[in-house]
Parts: sequence; C-alpha cells; structure tokens
Amino acid sequence: LSPARAADDGARPVIVAHRGASAYAPENTLAAVDKAAALGVDWVENDVQRTKDGELVVLHDDSLQRTTDVEEVFPDRAPWKVKDFTAAEIARLDAGSWFDPAYAGARVPTLEQFVHRVERYHQKLLLEIKNPQLYPGIERETLKVLSNEGWLDRRHVKHRLIVQSFSADSVRTVHDLKPAVKTGFLGTPPVADLPAYSGFSDQINPSHGSLSAAYVAAVQGFRGPHGKRMEVFTWTVNDAAAARRVAGFGVDGIITNTPDVVRDAVGG
Ligand code: G3P
Ligand code: CA
Repeated sequence: LSPARAADDGARPVIVAHRGASAYAPENTLAAVDKAAALGVDWVENDVQRTKDGELVVLHDDSLQRTTDVEEVFPDRAPWKVKDFTAAEIARLDAGSWFDPAYAGARVPTLEQFVHRVERYHQKLLLEIKNPQLYPGIERETLKVLSNEGWLDRRHVKHRLIVQSFSADSVRTVHDLKPAVKTGFLGTPPVADLPAYSGFSDQINPSHGSLSAAYVAAVQGFRGPHGKRMEVFTWTVNDAAAARRVAGFGVDGIITNTPDVVRDAVGG
C-alpha cells in the first residue's frame, strides 16, 4: 500500500490497525501488532506517553487502570497515572488479561519495543503523541527514539511514518523539529482554519461521525507542508456500512479496530 493516493484516482483508502488489531488482541501491545500483521495489515496506529523516569511507553489512557492489573499490583497508588510510575514498575504489569486470559502476560511495550515489532513485519507506523500537555518535551523525545531505531531515514519518513496528535501545538512542534516527518492533526478544524494547518500538518484526521464528502474535498484541496495535497485518515470505523460511507467520501485512510471487516467492505 502507498501512504498517499491521488485525489481523484479512485484508489482505495489505506487501512490502519487502531492500537494494533485491537478488536482481536489487547490494544497497544505487541500481540496487537502481531495480529495486524497476521491479518495482512501494513499500517499500525499507537499512542505514546511517558513514565515517571522518562521512558516512552505505548498506552492509550493517561491511567494504567483500565488496561492493566495495576490496581492489584500497586493497590495504594490510585489514580494509577502513567506519569507517576517508573518504566520498571510498568514492565511488571499484565496488559493482556483484562482483554482475554489467553493474553495473560502481555506487557505495556516501550516505544522502542513497539517500533522493533512494527519493523519486523515491515509495517508502517501512525504514531499518536497522546496527552502531550502532561509530558513537556515528548515531541523531541519521540523523535529521538525514532531516530535511534532508524525511523528518521529518508525511506521511513517518506513511506512508513506519520506522527499525529490532538494537540495542534504538538503537531507543529514535531514539524518544526523535523520538517521531513509527515504529520497529522486529529480533529475537524473549520475549513477557514485549514490554510493555517496546511503549514505544519500533512493530514487532517477527523472522527468519522463528523465527516462529510464536502469536508474531505475541502481538506484535499490544500497542499500540506511538503507540497503534496493534504490527506484525510478517519477513525474509528469498525463496521462495513461506516467503512463504505467514508470510502465514498474519498478518504485516504481508515483507522479501525477491525481491519478485516473494513477490508472486506472497501478493499485495500
Ligand atoms: O488514530 C486516531 C484515534 O486513535 C484517535 O482517538 O482516542 O483512539 O486515540 P483515540
Ligand atoms: Ca490513538
């Protein structure tokens, strides 16, 4: 699959496994990457946050409570915020049993471990910087890990990496620090604001509920910071009808917990 397609070439949207193939394996774990690979999906999305001692880890919520056994292991540490635990403490947690006992022992991966696993399958990474207001400097640190893993070379930044966030400041910071990296803003800014976004963001990535064909066309009418037309990846589309609807709008990518369902509906 190509990371981009021409605006009106009739190509199918790319399919992105949201937090890995998270309908079938515990979200944001290496098992969810394995499952995406087993399904033949080559784009994987994840969420990056920071521990108390500065390690970048892959987890969606700002608390460890929902997706690990932290309450049992550290009963006195409510509200179990990621930022209040060391990497060694988080490495002890079970991040699989809540989802299915078959995944007991799955861990919260570090960003480094997650990138290794994505590389193993030659997949592509849609990396979300999550809650950046809690983690000053996380943009630079994320780029450092990616650089150490060889993900900021020409081939990766051109074809295999997008960094996105709900924070426009965070997206702009990534763009300013490393202009070659492709970026995405999560949300649905007013059309009047799109020229400003086009200065630092290659993509506008809205929730599918708020999407329309007109909005997709409006975004795709702008050129992003790399001189290419802006793209739309939409989330989180988990059923065939919704997948057909957004594909009909001409989106460039569909972010989904159920990549097999979306592929059956729209191809790709
Ligand atoms: O990639 C888009 C999507 O992940 C944004 O929402 O809450 O699942 O991180 P959320
Ligand atoms: Ca996300």
